[in-house]
Amino acid sequence: MSVAGTRERGRLTFKPGQEQSFGKGLSQCRHDFADSGLFSDDTLAALIDRYPREYYMITTTTQSADGLEWHNGDLNGASGAFVLKAVREGRLWLCLRRLDLVAPEYEALVNGAFEEIETRNPACASRRRTSSLLISSPGARVLYHADIPMVALWHVRGRKRFWLYDADSPKHLPDQVLEGVVLRESEEEIAYDPAWDAEARIIDLEPGDAVSWPQNAPHRVDNLDGLNVSITTDYFTPEAERKYGVYYANGLMRRLLGVEPRCTATHGPLALAKCVIALALKKLGIHRVQERDMLQSFLLDPKRPGGTVHLPREEWRPILQA
Ligand SMILES: [Fe+2]
Repeated sequence: MSVAGTRERGRLTFKPGQEQSFGKGLSQCRHDFADSGLFSDDTLAALIDRYPREYYMITTTTQSADGLEWHNGDLNGASGAFVLKAVREGRLWLCLRRLDLVAPEYEALVNGAFEEIETRNPACASRRRTSSLLISSPGARVLYHADIPMVALWHVRGRKRFWLYDADSPKHLPDQVLEGVVLRESEEEIAYDPAWDAEARIIDLEPGDAVSWPQNAPHRVDNLDGLNVSITTDYFTPEAERKYGVYYANGLMRRLLGVEPRCTATHGPLALAKCVIALALKKLGIHRVQERDMLQSFLLDPKRPGGTVHLPREEWRPILQA
């Protein structure tokens, strides 16, 4: 499509200057993934039908006194067509992981987009990319959190409101909290105050919009309407790997030596030394966090599209994930 004030080359359309910020700051563009035909109901249903158990997650939320609670579940043998109907009518969030292994035709779209970005902007060099397909309900929400890698969201169907907060604000993301995320002590979900919304950047995502944002910038997502379908891609750049190494080393300094890290610079000899130390300590398994089992606590209700059957706690079982 053609947008006034934008340049078109290949499959992505950036507003002026936005391609240079991809991989660093906030960058938005338009993409044509939907033209592949891979996102129709029939094609998605067939994909769900063949998705191995160890590569998908289905989640829902319930309201408790402490706020929204997340639950992991199982598709309960439902057909792909039924799952799509359930997601459309319920409050569900389906994540099909490891597109590279299970659905390379989707991974190819992402690879093509990154090749195009890196040809236009050689300073952006991505590595360690992993992509997942997200299919979520019209009213689904993703709570305030910070991701460890850089992330690009390729939105394809439905409408979403994306709330982005300042990664460098000690209020929105204190260093100690980010260290905990990087060390995987906490899930990526972190403390949030609705008053911060006044300072958030709001980005409404329409089909064909893509956005990538500064590494670790806290964000949350409200689906606005329609069945929402997106691909999300985690990736690192050399700069993002250095930031990861610095916060990993700072976090260990604070926890193991009781030292308050003063420097979060990602350039210079100190940053490099921290990255080397972080890599070595990670390999040695210092401060290895016990990963919690993902427990299956609900099943899709085969009789009621969008309905869920919550299991008594004694019937919760670990979910196999590869
Ligand atoms: Fe995220």
